[in-house]
Amino acid sequence: MYGTGDVGFFDRIAPLYDLAMPPADGDALAAGFDRATRPIDRLLDVGGGSGRAAAAVTGPDRLVVDVSRPMLRRARTVRGLSAVAGDAGRLPVADGAVDAVLVVDAFHHLPAQAAAIDEAARVLAPGGVFVVREFDPTHPLGRLLVAAEHAIGMGSRFRSPDDLAAALDASGFDAVVVDRGFGYTVAGVR
Ligand SMILES: C[S@@+](CC[C@H](N)C(=O)[O-])C[C@H]1O[C@@H](n2cnc3c(N)ncnc32)[C@H](O)[C@@H]1O
Repeated sequence: MYGTGDVGFFDRIAPLYDLAMPPADGDALAAGFDRATRPIDRLLDVGGGSGRAAAAVTGPDRLVVDVSRPMLRRARTVRGLSAVAGDAGRLPVADGAVDAVLVVDAFHHLPAQAAAIDEAARVLAPGGVFVVREFDPTHPLGRLLVAAEHAIGMGSRFRSPDDLAAALDASGFDAVVVDRGFGYTVAGVR
């Protein structure tokens, strides 16, 4: 079975999610993809929800994976993206099948973060890149976000940029912090 995490929340708010969220930062994602040492033809958007982040990426074939079926339905019907149900800790994708893995605003919701990093490494081809866009819990706005998500009962576990980059390194990636701030980007080359 899937780890439940905060998924019930996203199941409920799926019809409203895109009304509340700004577009994903395509420039930050592109800066992460630039770290890859192979062409990016196949992109996997993990915890991709309604496809908001995948929609900000043009070029590669895009597949959205998420545990929330209502969110995936929107990725398909609103954005016309390919989307499959799956847990970040056990991806429904073959070894070495993609050139980039993306996780945007979702890593802190994952109940099995170490498994998600290992799965990204497994499904990436050599030279592919794992790009994570997250929120820094040590930033003043990050502290507010942590408090707000915990206040509504989420199990979010946020990590600082350096902590996340170190976790990727420990799983065999060559990781860098691409940009810092309330929102930050870490990219790890496989
Ligand atoms: C804040 S939304 C972000 C969605 C999308 N990445 C975006 O940027 O709009 C977090 C997503 O993580 C998904 N999620 C939570 N736990 C997950 C898991 N174990 N595996 C896959 N997706 C998960 C939720 O269902 C939700 O769609």
